[in-house]
Amino acid sequence: MTRRQFLCGWALVLSSLVLVPPGRAGVPDESRPWIAVGRQGMVASDSMYASQAGLEILRAGGNAIDAATATSFALAVTRPYSMGLGGGGFMLVRLGQTGEVFVLDYRECAPRAATADMFVKAREKLAQRTGPEGQERTSAPSAPAVPAPSRYGGLAVGVPGHIAGHAAMLERLGTRSFREVLAPAVRLAEQGFAVDEHYCSIARDSLAKMRDQPELRRIGQGLLKRLLFDGKAPAPGDVLRQPELADTLRQLQREGPSAFYRGTIGQTVVEAVQSAGGILTTEDLSTYRPVWRTPLRIRYRERYELLLMPPPSSGGICVAETLNILENWDLAAVRRRDPSLAAHLTVEALKHAFADRARHLGDADFAPVPVAQLTSKAYAKELAGRIRDTAVSPAAAYGSPPDDSGTSHFCVADRWGNVVSCTETINTGFGSLVVAEPAGIVLNNEMDDFTAEPGKPNAFGLSQSDHNAVVPGKRPLSCMTPTIVLRDGRPVLAVGASGGPIIITATLQVILAVVEYGQPLADAIEGPRFHHQWDPNILYYNQFPADGPLVRGLKARGHELSDRRREAVVQALQIEDDTLTGASDPRKGGRPAGY
Ligand code: GLY
Repeated sequence: MTRRQFLCGWALVLSSLVLVPPGRAGVPDESRPWIAVGRQGMVASDSMYASQAGLEILRAGGNAIDAATATSFALAVTRPYSMGLGGGGFMLVRLGQTGEVFVLDYRECAPRAATADMFVKAREKLAQRTGPEGQERTSAPSAPAVPAPSRYGGLAVGVPGHIAGHAAMLERLGTRSFREVLAPAVRLAEQGFAVDEHYCSIARDSLAKMRDQPELRRIGQGLLKRLLFDGKAPAPGDVLRQPELADTLRQLQREGPSAFYRGTIGQTVVEAVQSAGGILTTEDLSTYRPVWRTPLRIRYRERYELLLMPPPSSGGICVAETLNILENWDLAAVRRRDPSLAAHLTVEALKHAFADRARHLGDADFAPVPVAQLTSKAYAKELAGRIRDTAVSPAAAYGSPPDDSGTSHFCVADRWGNVVSCTETINTGFGSLVVAEPAGIVLNNEMDDFTAEPGKPNAFGLSQSDHNAVVPGKRPLSCMTPTIVLRDGRPVLAVGASGGPIIITATLQVILAVVEYGQPLADAIEGPRFHHQWDPNILYYNQFPADGPLVRGLKARGHELSDRRREAVVQALQIEDDTLTGASDPRKGGRPAGY
């Protein structure tokens, strides 16, 4: 089959599935194919194939939870550098009929043999072998240029929770079997799919990284063979087939999650991790459990309530703290008068939240996390009082003193009013680079989300405290921010993002754009965004004109600006009366699907 025939075939399959073409209010909008409108069901993910997989289940009568699992496993096939069976995630569900909210934490945890100093020791050993040179620079300018053992190789791998999480969620709230909802993913893995520009750009980056570093080439052998086209940079339209992953998915259909946690798939994963220098054991897999958590809830301006992810994510707390601070201004009025002041206030509020993240946050099952204090209106008022309209403050003045190209988000809604907001990850692009080969599973490097080497920022340039130190069984602090926004008690927006700490700032800005500024969802998703995480003390911006009033206004207040950081990718779903609007951020080439 030629590439052209393949694409035409898929185009036919896809067009036959979509009843309502992408566009606003049912009107096709050729200029914005990343927006879809429907009435009965909607999936917004960062892969067209995955959104279609979810839609297929919705149209067959499955609910949003069934469709979420179908979407997620299809994402594992088509976005294998972002998330997958070797990773974990968080899912928020609000049931339409009862209004009950369920939050599932199926994040990876540290293996039982993990220790707080394992990465310091591993780096010393690596340096003896390779010397301090030949090393890699991370995306954050202040991060050390090192092939950190917490990022690459077997030691970087946390105990995967993805399969256990979906099985638990499906058993509790789903209506379809594992076998049924995995079927679209099996097809995609078996028949293949055409890679898009985003896949190609990640492949080019990964190949360049491996070309420069023999150590990474060694670790990523399986990756090169299975997902990087034998080292030849793919072009958009090239077809990727994953027969081993298709076999794994079929085995999961037959045997359920025990094939991974107690069976032969798990054995393959353990062998791959151990031969890449890791410490994962079959006991780590057999004792892994997802955890049901209580959602974090905050009110915003009387009418709104936000359902947010609690620890071990930092996302919910940071969004809550930032919105609580911003509530002390009439931000929409400020923005009409002076957009750069509104941006400045938002950045200053975010810096307080990220300073508190760095000092206080970790897995609350293992370290004291002052959630109530950090999300209280009184604390936010005090922090708001410290923000000056005209200037930034010294770094130490943010938060309260201490007493610490991966990831994928999707949203689903169904005709029964159920809403899902779910973020999943293997951490950075292609995770640890280790592939459990016969199973076709890319393994996470979530251990780098811990304070892996005290005093050193992680891959995202985040400094963290010993509240987030490595402890066996503990979950590393996350930035994933799956969120559902209610107005007058009814869901109006599901939103979340991928991109490490940029997840938090991007999710917050889309919430502000829709809820506070009343912007159409399409503009909110497409529009420019900025990012500040307190440390490093740099305000990142991308699409704002460098000589425009917003950037000038921020510079005049003392912000140090840079345009050298990738942007987050947001997926969102808006619910207005009986209309569902799905939006997949054009930055990653996703497409929503609805009917
Ligand atoms: N691994 C990205 C996050 O959890 O924030």
